[in-house]
Amino acid sequence: MARPVERGVVTGRGSHQTQPAEERIVVLDFGSQYTQLIARRIREWNVFSEILPYNASPERVVSAGVKGIVLSGGPANLSSEEALVPDERIFESSIPILGICYGMQVLASYFGGRVSRASRREYGGAQLEVLRDEALFEGVVDGQARVTSVWMSHGDRVERLPAEFISIGRTANSPYAAIRSRSRPIFGVQFHPEVAHTVGGSKIISNFLFKVCGCRGLWTPGSFIEQKLRECREAIGSSRAICAVSGGVDSTVVATLLARAIGERLVGVFVDNGLLRAGEAEAVVAMLRERLGINLLAIDAADRFLKALKGVSDPQKKRKIIGNLFIEEFERAASRIGDCEFLAQGTLYPDVIESVSVKGPSALIKGHHNVWGLPERMNLKLVEPLRELFKDEVRRIGKELGIPQEILGRQPFPGPGLAVRIVGPVTQEKLFVLRAADAIVCEEVSKAGLEDRLWQWFAVLLPVKSVGVMGDERTYENVVAVRIVESQDAMTADWARLPHDLLARISRRIINEVAGVNRVVYDISSKPPSTIEWE
Ligand code: XMP
Repeated sequence: MARPVERGVVTGRGSHQTQPAEERIVVLDFGSQYTQLIARRIREWNVFSEILPYNASPERVVSAGVKGIVLSGGPANLSSEEALVPDERIFESSIPILGICYGMQVLASYFGGRVSRASRREYGGAQLEVLRDEALFEGVVDGQARVTSVWMSHGDRVERLPAEFISIGRTANSPYAAIRSRSRPIFGVQFHPEVAHTVGGSKIISNFLFKVCGCRGLWTPGSFIEQKLRECREAIGSSRAICAVSGGVDSTVVATLLARAIGERLVGVFVDNGLLRAGEAEAVVAMLRERLGINLLAIDAADRFLKALKGVSDPQKKRKIIGNLFIEEFERAASRIGDCEFLAQGTLYPDVIESVSVKGPSALIKGHHNVWGLPERMNLKLVEPLRELFKDEVRRIGKELGIPQEILGRQPFPGPGLAVRIVGPVTQEKLFVLRAADAIVCEEVSKAGLEDRLWQWFAVLLPVKSVGVMGDERTYENVVAVRIVESQDAMTADWARLPHDLLARISRRIINEVAGVNRVVYDISSKPPSTIEWE
């Protein structure tokens, strides 16, 4: 009998249940484009942070181990009908609070101040004059220099402070650019300490964590691994578990972690869905089995996937079909292996947040198959030990687990594979063309020694034919787009400014060596507003 999906047996429904009880910061998301950056900046100081929707219940926000609350910025106006306000009961606790931009306005308004439209929108760099010696600004301004560069981005501003608050910093346009409560550890900053343009931003965040909230910085790769090993052993008991492995960094880290937790009872399941890059299936199997010693079951399911995708153009439909088939393959594998109740997979934090619909820009962007493809009912319980992590943190964990750098440095590859890089229906012929073009992109980037600098580099096959001339003949063939981006975490990305010679070589080689392609274009869109993948 199928059971309802039990998500995150190991990580809990919402990471708050299982994070180190001692130390956590909650970031309430009011929809700022920077919310995730705030969470990352906090973690850089080895303090675990968790993003919750702005209106999360006080029971979730003020739970055990929470040392501080950050209210993020956001696009709403407090004066409008659509103003986003948190549950007021969170202000009744004695936990320190830092409001950033809109978050500071929320504080000012709740405590009785006045927020209104600024006569002029303030966007960009500003000079913050620090008015008092404050824990928040320790090490940010020193001695005589009372001024530091900050980054502003707001339309509303605080016009009148609540009686309970004092100004601790101002800029030319904002008399209340930084404020604090007279009696409680509650601070607000109109500027964005989380962005790199705020010169002392990282220090301000660390001051909030260590000097105001009393954090100790307990969240390290070592402590994370210990905790997850314990949780995995506890959750899986004496059962077996399968781990969906793709050769990517995330699933390789999960498999290594679980193999350490439960040894041979962990079986890595690698499904060749026919949507992989040239030579990938063989390379991945060799890497996992031979280099990492993972107990591995390799399944060739290419025909099933390609049949199910026949004629399907809609990207989300493709993802759903692929996700469902993956789960079917994993369930089959689990019943073949026997005594196996658990499926581990490498879902990451950005997958989870992008798929949770809260108001604002952190809302749904794209359904990632890890999160979306799950059938309503599934026979396996999910184990997702990386569910709270950002990509660079996964690499840190992988390094701590002893996974070689060349594996950790691999570029991310989407679960639905080349299906989302063939715009329109997937066919064997198109896969053949795309694989050949993609292999050239990979080879040239590798030869140029650029892999460490780049986030992803790949080819996309467009459903467009264009006219060309080869020799004396007119051609009418496919267009390949080359997508090469730099990024920290895939949440934002920029197209890579590569040497023209390299781009020329990639283009020349693809057109000369890949039959069926007569034009190559370079994608010069950043994310946002575009995404990294084309579908
Ligand atoms: P986008 O295209 O949303 O991609 O800017 C962000 C990152 O996610 C990868 N990606 C996926 N990974 N399943 C995955 O496992 C998917 O459906 C999927 N879609 C995008 C993409 O390669 C990039 O690293």
